[in-house]
Amino acid sequence: MPEYRIAPSILSADFARLGEEVRNVSEAGASLIHFDVMDNHYVPNLTIGPLVCEAIRPYTDLPIDVHLMVKPVDRIIPDFAKAGANIITFHPEASDHVDRSLSLIREHGCQSGLVFTPATSLDYLDYVLDKVDMVLLMSVNPGFGGQKFIPAMMDKARAARAKLDKYKEQTGRHIALEIDGGVKVDNIGELAAAGVDTFVAGSAIFGHPDYKAIIAEMHRQIAL
Ligand code: DX5
Ligand code: ZN
Repeated sequence: MPEYRIAPSILSADFARLGEEVRNVSEAGASLIHFDVMDNHYVPNLTIGPLVCEAIRPYTDLPIDVHLMVKPVDRIIPDFAKAGANIITFHPEASDHVDRSLSLIREHGCQSGLVFTPATSLDYLDYVLDKVDMVLLMSVNPGFGGQKFIPAMMDKARAARAKLDKYKEQTGRHIALEIDGGVKVDNIGELAAAGVDTFVAGSAIFGHPDYKAIIAEMHRQIAL
């Protein structure tokens, strides 16, 4: 059985009390803190950068999972590594040299990952899997929290897991599969069965009055 991880997306947190929100979800059973970086260029929204990553770092011992939705990619990687990020993922379409960006993330001591928008082909993985620690599938179009899960992404999750299982057979190395967008208690079980092991949830967690209860319920649904 894989290790199942819930990654609250702080995009839906109360930004006026961000440190406290990060501490609260960490104490409530989260496994990662998902940190959405948007630049109003690659995606139509503007959020937070390395300064905010550094500011929340003392509020949690959990890994900070930085999801870059920025273009260009490379020049911001060292800044996030210095700010305390542990995992950095980016969209291949936003990088001129995907292999180089992946290497750069690892050279800065972080785990690396590629993010796939709903329409992006998984073929991008074919020649770079050795440099990838996590694959992030977007199940909404990037830019905003609170959108509806795109049902076709269930099949894409199965296809991604099959690719990663094949790689594991050849190399023995497990690559995590994360999903992001519209994850709720009513689809998380099916996603786990499809082979997802890491679940980003923004509105489902921060929109719930009891973070511990909602994270526990997510784990319960996964285990069913
Ligand atoms: C969207 C972000 C997501 C977002 C998910 O571009 O990457 O991480 O916060 O929010 P929910 O869980 O509300 O769909
Ligand atoms: Zn995200």
